[in-house]
Amino acid sequence: MIVNAKKMLDEAIKSHYAVPHININNLEWTKATLLTAKDLRSPIILGVSEGAGKYMGGFKVVSAMVRAMDESLGIDVPVALHLDHGTYEGCIDCINAGFSSIMFDGSHFKIDENIEKTKELVKMAHNNNMSIEAEVGAIGGEEDGVIGMGECADHDECKRIAELGIDFLAAGIGNIHGKYPENWKGLNFKTLEMIKEKIGLLPLVLHGGTGIPIDMIKKAISLGVAKINVNTECQISFAEATRKYIESGKDREGKGFDPRKLLAPGFDAIKSTVKEKIEIFGSKSRV
Ligand code: 13P
Repeated sequence: MIVNAKKMLDEAIKSHYAVPHININNLEWTKATLLTAKDLRSPIILGVSEGAGKYMGGFKVVSAMVRAMDESLGIDVPVALHLDHGTYEGCIDCINAGFSSIMFDGSHFKIDENIEKTKELVKMAHNNNMSIEAEVGAIGGEEDGVIGMGECADHDECKRIAELGIDFLAAGIGNIHGKYPENWKGLNFKTLEMIKEKIGLLPLVLHGGTGIPIDMIKKAISLGVAKINVNTECQISFAEATRKYIESGKDREGKGFDPRKLLAPGFDAIKSTVKEKIEIFGSKSRV
């Protein structure tokens, strides 16, 4: 069932677990993620970046596919369809396309502009019964082959954004999208604690979930993180499993080239990755 993400994250914060946000890229990703969440009785958030939305044919296509699949597969756990790192215009498109949740990423604007735009979108999202995530402090990642280190968010700025009525907050605490470099210093728990002190029970979001050691994940959850975003790890497990299938020559045996066979190992690999995340984040058997 498609719902907004507010209730699921409020419950997660109270019971000290995190809901996985899994970025989807196509039908296989969506089906693998939904079926795993259903099997393990976990709430789940399907994240769609603007690039992935475009790739799938537009936000309306994504919304129609997810809603239809949710119904035809009998998904009886809470599912949020969430825009990931949206621009102002992207957020409006997703409100109109039937998403149930949006993220406005105004972290690259000066704080006053981020506040102004976030405030407008909070109103629009809530008028449409949608949840909204905002961001303070840029999250690092690879751009043109250079890995930028994650910024740490200013806790007073977090407080100002939290007071706008958003439903959950992404704050940079040294986390990075994609693989972590060897010299990564780890999550900055001091920053996380200071932010938590300023924002109370508002759920926090940890981006860059791929490759964070389990003990750091657990500590972050204990300090108020209730949503953890994972993208790269599913892409890697899908690619590795597909590579194995082709390298072992299976696509050349019988009808092994049939996409339903060719993509099956990657599909199963995504399921295993999502299962692992649900277990580590503690969201299993919560529904
Ligand atoms: P990773 O690709 O590092 O898992 O990060 C995903 C993410 O944060 C999406 O917003």
